[in-house]
Amino acid sequence: MLNVAVIGLGWWGRIIVPLIKSSSKLRVVRVADPLPAAAQFAREQELPLGSFDDVLKDRHVQGVVLCTPHTQHTDQIVRAAGAGKHVFCEKPLSLTRADVLRAVEACNRARVKLAVGHEKRFEPPIQELMRLVKSGELGTPLQVEANFVQDKFLSLPPDNWRLSAKEAPAGPMTATGIHLLDLSVGVFGPAERVFASVRQLGSQLVNGDTLGILVNFKSGGNALLGAVLATPFDGRFAVYCNKGWAEVRDKAHPEAPQGWTLTVHRRGGEKAVREFSPAKAVLGNLEAFADAATGGAPYPVPQAEMIANVSALEAIFRSAQTGRVEHVEN
Ligand SMILES: NC(=O)c1ccc[n+]([C@@H]2O[C@H](COP(=O)([O-])OP(=O)(O)OC[C@H]3O[C@@H](n4cnc5c(N)ncnc54)[C@H](O)[C@@H]3O)[C@@H](O)[C@H]2O)c1
Repeated sequence: MLNVAVIGLGWWGRIIVPLIKSSSKLRVVRVADPLPAAAQFAREQELPLGSFDDVLKDRHVQGVVLCTPHTQHTDQIVRAAGAGKHVFCEKPLSLTRADVLRAVEACNRARVKLAVGHEKRFEPPIQELMRLVKSGELGTPLQVEANFVQDKFLSLPPDNWRLSAKEAPAGPMTATGIHLLDLSVGVFGPAERVFASVRQLGSQLVNGDTLGILVNFKSGGNALLGAVLATPFDGRFAVYCNKGWAEVRDKAHPEAPQGWTLTVHRRGGEKAVREFSPAKAVLGNLEAFADAATGGAPYPVPQAEMIANVSALEAIFRSAQTGRVEHVEN
């Protein structure tokens, strides 16, 4: 059992705290958030509330789960690692390659585990799709086509941090596009160059609501990624290979999963459609973190892929600004 503190009790922190209560692998022992509204939530959950500093000093806390604004992630990872705490950080781990290298190095130096909130990797149909791709059953992966769109941010006040160009460069990228980039890195490895276009087309979101991305990977494969914040939820991840393709379609946002449809089409065969029941992928990810921290199996997202993801992310931010193809540092 891993004792954790959840830092940040906004939208996602309030999903994660009750979710962990159903786990036999980790337990929330305290929470931190400076907002007055957090006190009520902490009382309801019967958890002591304090500051991030209090958490770092608490010897009972073995790990932190960071659900805080993006620009705080790297420093919080480094400080938590320095205090000997294992770290689960919500996506994106960092906003620059220099920062993700700093975060990874701090965790390795302190010999603590680092995990990241990319729960799509823990969705059973995505795991099956990845198994098909990695086993070579579908042949060589050629191209990813994916989107993750939603309209949850339309009701946010305009000064919310998630709508700021500093916390969320390239509009929808850090909200949803980052999950697709992570899965694409999982398929192809490090990226080589990117082209991204972000525009404000269908909402009041001045930071942009419509993002299209082309990523070219070092392996030669491509990913065509779409992220829109001005249309109802849709989610899709498809990998086209030279012997067949596989596509996962989400039925609902990961906040309240309703299941998935996996379609696989092998050359010479019929399309095979398989329905998947809802599963707690967010909890699966947190439990994989707990397993790694308590000496069980290695955490399934390799650090090289965490670094490759943020390296491509930084190039996407640059491309969205310059309007040019940008090289990815590796
Ligand atoms: N994995 C997913 O699918 C998913 C979904 C939603 C959000 N997220 C991620 O979760 C993180 C939080 O997003 P959110 O939507 O919950 O934001 P939010 O604004 O709703 O919540 C953030 C909370 O952090 C608190 N906070 C800020 N600074 C703090 C500090 N120094 N110490 C403690 N608390 C602090 C704020 O007061 C706020 O309550 C982001 O990284 C976001 O990308 C992930």
